[in-house]
Amino acid sequence: MNQQAIQEAANTIKELQKVQPKTGLILGSGLGVLADEITDAVTIPYGDIPHFPVSTVEGHKGQLVLGELHGVPVLAMQGRFHFYEGWELEDVTFPVRVMKELGIGKLIATNAAGGVDPALNPGDLMLIRDHINHAGANPLRGRNNPELGVRFPDMSEAYPSHLREEAKAAAAELGFTLREGVYVWNSGPSYETPAEVRMLQHLGGDAVGMSTVPEVIAARHAGMDAAGISCISNMAAGILDHPLSHEEVIETTQKVQKQFLALVREWVKRIEKGA
Ligand code: 6GU
Repeated sequence: MNQQAIQEAANTIKELQKVQPKTGLILGSGLGVLADEITDAVTIPYGDIPHFPVSTVEGHKGQLVLGELHGVPVLAMQGRFHFYEGWELEDVTFPVRVMKELGIGKLIATNAAGGVDPALNPGDLMLIRDHINHAGANPLRGRNNPELGVRFPDMSEAYPSHLREEAKAAAAELGFTLREGVYVWNSGPSYETPAEVRMLQHLGGDAVGMSTVPEVIAARHAGMDAAGISCISNMAAGILDHPLSHEEVIETTQKVQKQFLALVREWVKRIEKGA
């Protein structure tokens, strides 16, 4: 990982930012609207940041939005980079490295995911308790830069409980129960077969998606605290008897948008300011 590229990207952002962000947010499919709530916003298209990749997927804008989310200085990524698009994991995790360089200590990643636990329902929000890297790839493969982190990072508390507790408290205050479970990262872009979904159930997975895990691994490597929320946009293959579609993913995330926005807003406030 090229330290100079990280610094150049961070310097460009620093020159434009009006607040020093504390929390980094990665907004997944259909969840980018959260950035519209950021006040005093400075918006920076990825293309304007040196070395930043530029995303191609429909429903993903490619820009950073920096400003205040209900009084908390944040940096939000509207649009992320996926392994299935062909990006190297070094590119996928580059923005997280830049966040660290900007002095951001916490990462909140969001995504749309398929429900693997049959007790989940489309439209549920699931707090990520832990993950399973099932993609056969790791963003830290290759030479380790000790300036960024250790060779063999501990992942035993990748999603620290103090952040999860605040999310649960935020949901309780808003009057709903947050589901909690294990997120499985598959590379995609094809969805799973029913047999693969049964396998994931046996492995202890509750939801499956195509993102988040590489970013969280990079965040842990960098010594940042990570947290994640999955919007269960559909059930994984074989659980309900209808085919999966990206349209359903977008439709469901739009339906729960309000609840999702309220949760993240309240969560960030609790993390940074206390209840
Ligand atoms: Cl069912 N699988 C994967 N891998 N990603 C998803 C999904 C399913 N639903 C939304 N994203």
